[in-house]
Amino acid sequence: MPGPLRIVRTPLELTAAMEAWKRAGHRVAFVPTMGALHAGHLALVAEGLKHADKVAASIFVNPKQFGPTEDLERYPRDEAGDGAKLLAAGCELLYAPTVATMYPPGFASYVRVAALPDLLCGAARPGHFDGVATVVSKLLAAARADVAVFGEKDWQQLAIVRRMADDLDLGTQIIGCHIVRDDDGLALSSRNLYLTPDERARAVALPQALSRAREALLAGGDVAPALATAERKIAGAGFARIDYFELVDGERLTPLRAVTPGARLMAAAVMGSTRLIDNLAV
Ligand code: PAF
Repeated sequence: MPGPLRIVRTPLELTAAMEAWKRAGHRVAFVPTMGALHAGHLALVAEGLKHADKVAASIFVNPKQFGPTEDLERYPRDEAGDGAKLLAAGCELLYAPTVATMYPPGFASYVRVAALPDLLCGAARPGHFDGVATVVSKLLAAARADVAVFGEKDWQQLAIVRRMADDLDLGTQIIGCHIVRDDDGLALSSRNLYLTPDERARAVALPQALSRAREALLAGGDVAPALATAERKIAGAGFARIDYFELVDGERLTPLRAVTPGARLMAAAVMGSTRLIDNLAV
């Protein structure tokens, strides 16, 4: 039985706790999150436990990855509830720093991965992935874990973090974890809480369009008509805007005109005022 969840709030405390585990012979995993945890996050902890015998997680709503008109203020926060869920999932250490700890006065260093952040979500969210790369590099530098686990729902984020961890020799292996979906197929997301019941019911058109496009492509259909049919389905379900629906190379994220190994369908669309993303391997 794991003991009570230990909470640390500074990078030094996190490093000390992780290093103590490693000195005791443990392999350690780290799961970065922004809190408001759902079953998708707990799957990250479970994945961590497949690769390590100790798991630490972080909860930090990172202001640097929110645009000026985005939902930083209303982003759900529930440290006590998150802590209980993490403990039940087998996580033993929680890193929950304040904004002032992460970005003290005078903070001036940013991490920017070239090219990948400008594609797909980056086009609609300028600066978002620089904020992600910056905070993830800080978290991984303090955690010094053997492995870190990220969800495949944010496939572009995962690709960027992999590139960055490789390029900067961060010494932590980046592991992707499968998308967890509700019974009707909608990918779990903390932002699903914003959907009204009617919007929630219509949002399922997004994963459905991905599945149908995948079937069409695997049946030998051309890419352009498969994507156009998917976009019509999403628009027909009442999404206010489609940011993209594309077939891309899963690593470089560049558009494909035909299915190749590692190809991935990627989608982002706005339902009501909530931007939803999803993706599917083809
Ligand atoms: O995926 C998230 O929850 C965030 O983007 C992350 C990786 C924790 C960085 O703030």
